[in-house]
Amino acid sequence: MVVFSYPIALLAEVVSVEFQNGGTSPVEEPRIIAFCCMYCAYAAADAAGSMRLNYPPNVHIVLMPCSGRVDDLFILKAFESGADGVYIAGCEEGSCHFVSGNLRAKRRVFFLKRILEEIGIEPERLEMFHISASQGGLFARVAKEMTEKVRLLGIIKWNKS
Ligand code: FES
Repeated sequence: MVVFSYPIALLAEVVSVEFQNGGTSPVEEPRIIAFCCMYCAYAAADAAGSMRLNYPPNVHIVLMPCSGRVDDLFILKAFESGADGVYIAGCEEGSCHFVSGNLRAKRRVFFLKRILEEIGIEPERLEMFHISASQGGLFARVAKEMTEKVRLLGIIKWNKS
């Protein structure tokens, strides 16, 4: 399912409703949120579809105007809302339509990995990728590899106490 760019409160709601409904993922399968820039990775997802390349239904795409627009809170909210893995897919370095949004996103992911580790979540559950609009094959491969990696890490079991 593709979710359009939302303010944080609505994003959390959309993600959790999607997950509660099971989305397109079977129960106990990892759930992954992919924040995709509309100029590149989202177009690459489209290209993957046109090329009839399959990628796992575990990946739920959230359309963003730029990877630099993905706030720390979006990522943490996605995990809190039930995601077992999150990735940002932005334009290739030097190709961001907002000059340096993708570099900001890259730094954000680097920083947030340390925060995740401190709260007991494996940092490998969060990644950043650069995918151009024409790279439908790369988009599908990244979605598969991320799903496999998160599947090996397992479902996040939050301590509810
Ligand atoms: S416009 Fe694509 S990452 Fe900034």
